Amino acid sequence: MNTTSRRARHALVAAGLTVATAVAGLVVAAPAQSAASTLGAAAAQSGRYFGTAIAAGRMSDSTYIGIANREFNMITAENEMKMDATEPSQNRFTYTNGDRIVSWARSNGKQVRGHTLAWHAQQPGWMQNMSGSALRNALINHVTQVATHYRGQIHTWDVVNEAFADDGRGSRRDSNLQRTGNDWIEAAFRAARAADPGAKLCYNDYNTDGINAKSTGIYNMVRDFKARGVPIDCVGFQAHLGTTMPGDFQANLQRFSDLGVDVQITELDIQQGSNQANAYAQVTRACLAVARCTGITVWGVRDTDSWRTGTNPLLFDGAGNKKAAYTSTLNALNSVSPTPPPTTAPPTNGTIDVNASYVLLNRGSGKALDVYNLSTADGARITQWSRNDGLQQQWQFVDAGNGYYKIKSRLSGKVLDVYNFSTADGGAIVQYTDRNQTNQQFRVTSSGGYLTIVNRNSGKAVEVQGASTADGGNIVQYTSWGGANQQWQLVRVG
Ligand code: G3I
Repeated sequence: MNTTSRRARHALVAAGLTVATAVAGLVVAAPAQSAASTLGAAAAQSGRYFGTAIAAGRMSDSTYIGIANREFNMITAENEMKMDATEPSQNRFTYTNGDRIVSWARSNGKQVRGHTLAWHAQQPGWMQNMSGSALRNALINHVTQVATHYRGQIHTWDVVNEAFADDGRGSRRDSNLQRTGNDWIEAAFRAARAADPGAKLCYNDYNTDGINAKSTGIYNMVRDFKARGVPIDCVGFQAHLGTTMPGDFQANLQRFSDLGVDVQITELDIQQGSNQANAYAQVTRACLAVARCTGITVWGVRDTDSWRTGTNPLLFDGAGNKKAAYTSTLNALNSVSPTPPPTTAPPTNGTIDVNASYVLLNRGSGKALDVYNLSTADGARITQWSRNDGLQQQWQFVDAGNGYYKIKSRLSGKVLDVYNFSTADGGAIVQYTDRNQTNQQFRVTSSGGYLTIVNRNSGKAVEVQGASTADGGNIVQYTSWGGANQQWQLVRVG
């Protein structure tokens, strides 16, 4: 909007709400849904994530880390959070490489999948030789210590990995952990929940991507866990695939989600061949078609980073170029009319879940409230940006009493703040350390599924300045007039 029309709008606002609303219809364009240009942003359009595994040892490779940063909004440590890495000798925990990955991810607005707390493989030597109650105790201690160390930083933990056999009968895998008693898996889940109540807890396995004896064995375990109240939130399907996707892949995801758990594709890679691009698109579409399939992670960045040497199973070639499989995946994310993952009903005043994380989408622009340039500093500007579900776009509503909330960034931990207690139209909204001041408190009113957010000190509404639809458009306060640029949709993402 140019200055003249903005001035005209404000004059009309003063003249009365009816006129102002009519003008709003003329000047505030409906948000255009344009195709997203990265995997993470494309997945975020339906509230899902798109992730990759990364290795600490490759983080200094600028091509590698550049692609990881640009394309993905969920990160798994490929090896650095496994049992041998985090507890190399009993009760001596080392988190250096895991911490490096977590802190890189979070400071770049990405979320983290924790992989993995309990596994028969990659056990440290001291654990491999243990059995019975000593091993059980050591396992629970490991789960508790590691989940506590990362508490609050993990979107989802693979609590238990690969505990079922490939015997065609759906049995548990024989292992030292299994020999401590069949209840070892639920014991691990209970310990993880106690240590980090905010993380989603997944069971994760391979060769479970279609309906077969192994996936059915896991299905029966999950059904039993849900019936008995064992804390499980999701099932991970590794999806290390040959050249094709099983025909019943989607049906398998669906039957698990019908048990009341989320499903995630956790380690996707597909052997290169004439069907690779098609198979990637099929897997992506299958996830999009299942409401509780909340995201996809590929197991590495470039073909040369893959554990499957020589099969070129990833989305980028060794030089970092996008492959046909990349394009087909991006197009699938952009083109399929997705089934959105469950969100709460649009909250009305007083019913906002203070334990949830929300993306706030502006009605006028369709863009998300965003801490500009991932800043963690006091006074940093708040803008709108294309939705990517990064931590810089995730907000928590902290109850400030008397019907007011503070709106806290999950990236910086700072809260929305009307700069310098301004009461003027156009006063800047920034982030600032929470001081529980009235310029940091907002009341929200709901109408038609959209919220108006009004500052306690100034009485003005949070809006996109000038009804901009551009990335980087400023967020300011302005006299509440009911425009689409002052209306916000809360989309629950965590
Ligand atoms: O970094 C060392 C190197 O210094 C040493 O010389 C070399 C000698 O073998 O080993 C290197 O470490 C290897 C590590 O990958 C990093 O490349 C380990 O031996 C090797 O065992 C390890 O393999 C990992 C494997 O899990 C076993 O933990 C793969 O990177 C990793 O992609 C793979 O991931 C698993 C998931 O966790 C679970 N699902 C299956 C998936 C694929 O196997």
